[in-house]
Amino acid sequence: MAPPGNRPKPMIAVAEVLMWVLFVLLLFPAGVVGWAVGHYTGHQGGGTRTVTVSAAAPATTTAPATTTTAKAAATTTAAAAPTAAGKAVFLSAGCAACHTFKPAGASGKVGPDLDTTPAVDAKKDNMALAAFVRESIVSPNAYIAPGFTKGLMPQTFGTSLSKAKIDALVSFIVSGK
Ligand code: HEC
Repeated sequence: MAPPGNRPKPMIAVAEVLMWVLFVLLLFPAGVVGWAVGHYTGHQGGGTRTVTVSAAAPATTTAPATTTTAKAAATTTAAAAPTAAGKAVFLSAGCAACHTFKPAGASGKVGPDLDTTPAVDAKKDNMALAAFVRESIVSPNAYIAPGFTKGLMPQTFGTSLSKAKIDALVSFIVSGK
C-alpha cells in the first residue's frame, strides 16, 4: 500500500490535465467562432465590403428583391393577363383572318379594322365600347358596320367561346394593345 497521501496526487494531476484539455478543446472552437463572427462582422461594418457584402448582402437583399419581382410580376400579370389571353383567343378563333388589328398583328380585310372602327361604331350605336364589342362578337348582326355585309362574321362565337374567352377578347380589343 502506498502512503495514503500519495495516491490521489497523480489522480488530481490527471484530472487537472484532462480539465485543461477539455478547456482548450472547448475554448478553441469557441475562439474560432468568435474570431470568425468578429472577423465577418468587422468586415461588414467596415469599409472592406468586398468579400463579406457579396456573401451577406445577397442573402438579405435577395428576399426583398424576390418579393418585389414577384409583386411586380403579379401586378403585371394581373394587368396583362386579360389582353394577353385575349390576343391568344383572337388568334386561335380566327378573327385575324377577317380583321385588321395591329396588337394582334392581324391584317384581314373581310371585316372592319378593329383598331379604329369599333370606337366609331360604338358611338353611332350609342353604346359603351366594351358592351358594343361584346355584342359585336356574340351577336354580330345586332349592328352591321357601315360598308360591310351582314352574315359574314360568324354568329357562333357566343356559344363556341367561353365567357372567360369572350371577356379576354373584349378587354384585348377595347384596350387596343
Ligand atoms: C369570316 C370573317 C370574320 C371573322 C372570322 C370574324 N369577323 Fe368580326 N366581322 C366581320 C365582318 C364582315 C364584320 C362587319 C359586319 C358586322 O358588323 O357584323 C365584323 C364585325 C366585327 C366587329 C364590329 C366592328 C364594328 O366596328 O362594327 C367586331 C368587334 C368583330 N367583328 C370582332 C371579331 C372577333 C373578335 C372575331 C374573332 C372571335 C371576329 N370578329 C371574327 C367578319 C369576321
